[in-house]
Amino acid sequence: MAEAGVPVYAWRGESEEDFWWCIDKCIHSDNWQPNMILDDGGDATHLMLKKYPAMFRGIKGIVEESVTGVHRLYQLSKAQKLTVPAMNVNDSVTKTKFDNLYSCRESILDALKRSTDVMFGGKHVLVCGYGEVGKGCCSALKGMGAVVCISEIDPICALQACMDGFRVVKVNEVVRNIDILVTATGNKNVVTREHMDKMKNGCILCNMGHSNTEIDVQSLKGLTWEKVRSQVDHIIWPDGKRIILLAEGRLANLSCSTIPSFVVSITASTQALALIELFSAPVGRYKGDVYLLPKKMDEYVASLHLPTFDAHLTEMTDEQARYMGLNKAGPFKQAYYR
Ligand SMILES: NC(=O)c1ccc[n+]([C@@H]2O[C@H](COP(=O)([O-])OP(=O)(O)OC[C@H]3O[C@@H](n4cnc5c(N)ncnc54)[C@H](O)[C@@H]3O)[C@@H](O)[C@H]2O)c1
Repeated sequence: MAEAGVPVYAWRGESEEDFWWCIDKCIHSDNWQPNMILDDGGDATHLMLKKYPAMFRGIKGIVEESVTGVHRLYQLSKAQKLTVPAMNVNDSVTKTKFDNLYSCRESILDALKRSTDVMFGGKHVLVCGYGEVGKGCCSALKGMGAVVCISEIDPICALQACMDGFRVVKVNEVVRNIDILVTATGNKNVVTREHMDKMKNGCILCNMGHSNTEIDVQSLKGLTWEKVRSQVDHIIWPDGKRIILLAEGRLANLSCSTIPSFVVSITASTQALALIELFSAPVGRYKGDVYLLPKKMDEYVASLHLPTFDAHLTEMTDEQARYMGLNKAGPFKQAYYR
């Protein structure tokens, strides 16, 4: 992209300060006036709103793809601080079911294998959170023969885990015996210092959820850190116990593995459509609120990717379309269908 003349502000190993400098440069540079935000996590939206409020009021819309960023947008909307329309792409089926579920199902194994070379068969694994990301991780690890438990706060997701054959436990109940712990909650301090004090020697700890908040990495700063290789640290307790922390608690798959480009194509197409929709919508169609991408566009993105698999869609007969009360060209499901 840089070779093509697109300004890129990012590099591997950025500090927290660098990270915010990069976002600031994307928003505010000479001869540059952004008119839309395409965000992943809500940080660009947050910075523009706080630091450049006049510019924020002038943009045509925000497209946000992460669970956490979308949550922040709904909070802004509730507080009546969202003055421009925003598209919640995270809850498009073509995002959540692919980026969160299928992409993580592939990349959790890749991330753990590349960084630690661990064998999965027979290992005891705890996955915190049985949402889309957690479901993907659990299914992959179970498929490799690991013994997987999950922790959940939501009874529906906990019940789904039970029906899928996973034991639902509290972290404290199993933390002494697990070989691998994966967080996938979008929450903070799901794994605390107290939990880590109880882990056994050699336990692998990684985060597949939000940012670097899920594992309380700060609480480990007083211990000895030994860098084993890029993105892999041994944290050493005074009695010699070591736990293996991946990517300093940041997203393990983004830091330690590749993610499937096919999934990126699906989510990027969804985002592009959302940008086009907000940019070209007639005045008044969207107000200062959070919207879902129309189901028909989700279906369009999916249909663009079907030829890759030589998949042949069935077309309803006129009689069937009338019977179902549907248009033969879609949308085929209600907006709330997931
Ligand atoms: N690693 C990646 O490539 C990737 C991809 C997509 C999303 N994400 C991120 O992963 C996180 C989860 O995404 P998701 O789509 O699975 O969200 P989700 O809301 O479907 O699932 C999160 C689950 O965690 C549970 N949870 C919350 N707090 C908990 C706690 N303290 N203990 C146990 N469970 C708890 C929730 O009840 C929920 O079921 C988000 O932060 C998202 O941005 C990461």
